[in-house]
Amino acid sequence: MVEMKSKILIFGGSGYIGKYMVRASIKLGHPTYVYSRPHSDNTQVLDEFRSSGAVIVKACMLHLYKQSFISLLYFLSKLSMFGSFKGELDDHDKLVSAIREVDVVISALAYPQVLDQTNIVEAIKVAGNIKRFLPSDFGCEEDRISVLPPFQAFLNKKKKIRRAIEEANIPYTFVSANCFGAYFVNYLLRPYQKNQEITVYGTGEAKAVLNYEEDIGICTIKVATDAKACNRVVIMRPRTNIISQLELISLWEKKTGRSFNKIHVPEQEIVALSNTLPDPLNIPVSILHSVFVKGMTMDFEIGEDDVEASAAYPDLKFTTVDELLDIFLLNPPEPASAAFE
Ligand SMILES: NC(=O)c1ccc[n+]([C@@H]2O[C@H](COP(=O)([O-])OP(=O)(O)OC[C@H]3O[C@@H](n4cnc5c(N)ncnc54)[C@H](OP(=O)(O)O)[C@@H]3O)[C@@H](O)[C@H]2O)c1
Repeated sequence: MVEMKSKILIFGGSGYIGKYMVRASIKLGHPTYVYSRPHSDNTQVLDEFRSSGAVIVKACMLHLYKQSFISLLYFLSKLSMFGSFKGELDDHDKLVSAIREVDVVISALAYPQVLDQTNIVEAIKVAGNIKRFLPSDFGCEEDRISVLPPFQAFLNKKKKIRRAIEEANIPYTFVSANCFGAYFVNYLLRPYQKNQEITVYGTGEAKAVLNYEEDIGICTIKVATDAKACNRVVIMRPRTNIISQLELISLWEKKTGRSFNKIHVPEQEIVALSNTLPDPLNIPVSILHSVFVKGMTMDFEIGEDDVEASAAYPDLKFTTVDELLDIFLLNPPEPASAAFE
């Protein structure tokens, strides 16, 4: 039987994690659409999508070239005189028109745009055709953990979107991808700096889950189109990807043949920083505390109603942390930093 492909619209598809989802969606054969600002800075990645057969469609025309696998929907928006792009996700009619063209909507918008997703929820309600919506979660399982106030405020915004989706009866999948692997290997080990010192947050013994971004992309598209993940929380927690900071450093030492000086930052210092740093600088330290000092990604049991991705999809190959470090030796992924404002 020929498998039916879903038309997938991705918000934030040119972004750090969004681009892995767009590539995965194309690879898995889904007609893929990217909702991108007309003056996006991410021209290189948009060009890459275009060269995968993309047709650029101006929103005001809204006739989609169905023969192409990917159409970049550039929505002409009202840029404010102050360079604010907020209005772009505010254009209800354009959102509804775009959403009516597809089956599945994924949002990989950055943290500052999390609450703007209420506009997407409203548009999905009006469009009435969406079989699945995945909001921009892709981190810790926000409904199961309790963290320092700056990170809690961050998670509360994501929770608010989850509740709005449930209230609107929109079929959903909430994805907890845990730590983006290359992102956090770069952050913790700083291989690009060739330093002799490595900073360790707290004792370095708490376990965290590090998943390679390419696998997060494929897994996200897989669950977005799979019935058993409908109205479920998907948690990516492969056994081979659970590791402490000390274990990660030791593995890196073995691979590089080097020995690093470990500089520990005590927990109290991290908590004090989360209380004294101005917003939003207090968010990343609070995340470090929750994930790497307290081990929050491993701090709860996976429930019967949850979908643990590596068990539910044994055909999906999750790159192990060991393999991820091999990638760093051969072709190190670029460091990145998430937007907090
Ligand atoms: N688990 C982890 O380790 C981890 C790490 C980092 C992030 N995250 C999460 O992953 C999700 C995506 O984050 P990200 O870092 O990948 O995002 P990002 O790269 O910062 O941004 C995603 C896209 O959002 C669009 N965008 C940017 N500013 C905008 C604005 N003012 N208005 C409208 N659209 C705008 C851009 O697309 P266009 O330019 O094409 O319009 C951009 O490519 C978030 O939920 C974040 O919290 C998780």
